[in-house]
Amino acid sequence: MVLRLNSLWSVTTVACLIPLLWLLIDVGINNLGSNPIQAVHIRLGDWALRFLCLTLVITPVQTVTKFRGMAAYRQMLGLYAFFYATLHLLAYLLVDHALVWNLIGIDILESPYIWFGLVCYLIVFLLAITSPKWAKKRMGKAWKKLHRYIYIAALAGVVHYFWQLKGNLADPLFYLIVVIVLLGFRVLVWLKNRKFNKMMIPTRKKILVLPVKQDDVLAGISDKQGITVESWVDDET
Ligand code: HEM
Repeated sequence: MVLRLNSLWSVTTVACLIPLLWLLIDVGINNLGSNPIQAVHIRLGDWALRFLCLTLVITPVQTVTKFRGMAAYRQMLGLYAFFYATLHLLAYLLVDHALVWNLIGIDILESPYIWFGLVCYLIVFLLAITSPKWAKKRMGKAWKKLHRYIYIAALAGVVHYFWQLKGNLADPLFYLIVVIVLLGFRVLVWLKNRKFNKMMIPTRKKILVLPVKQDDVLAGISDKQGITVESWVDDET
């Protein structure tokens, strides 16, 4: 079983490189249309966003299937999102602008859609460098909080896509719906768990036992003088 999972993981790892290979073949055979530089840039951006969405799919799949070995796939897909986003950024810096920094600066200042791309990239970068197990251990609870920013990254990526597009908005709309549905799923699970935790977690409450009448003690009805006890009571509020 472990061997089968490991080989599935290896196959997936290699399969994620197919878009790059496909792009390289298209570059090699000159199959990128009239503006190959733009085509390379666009294809890498598209794949970065696709891998980001695939990364988001993993947690709901794990919740529904209860299959626990999926964290490694989430990490791998997230790293591929970072990989394609980095190539997309490098294509922008090296191929589109030949590292002419003042042109790049002007372009960034004048194009708000690039700000969203930048936000998306910075988050994906932070998630990638904190993805190893040792970073997770070291960061404790902060790790989970930081990694929830993947939803902000995906939304920023979709806005980045929407904003620069001149024509058909169907594709970015599709990604927007995917991200909203996945985010909605997480919110529902969170709400359900919160309600469940509220029902289950006991809170320390004081129960005051009223003093018993002295006459009753004397009459032998009770032998206690009145006490205050502390007890673990379920908090149902
Ligand atoms: C600093 C970071 C980034 C810069 C400077 C940048 C720049 C650009 C530019 C200039 C375009 C327009 C391409 C063209 O039509 O010629 C573009 C498109 C795009 N970018 Fe980015 N981008 C960045 C980060 C990202 C990230 C992190 C993602 C996704 C995770 C992304 C996804 C896309 C997508 C999907 C498109 C549209 C492709 C299409 O038209 O099908 N970008 N980006």
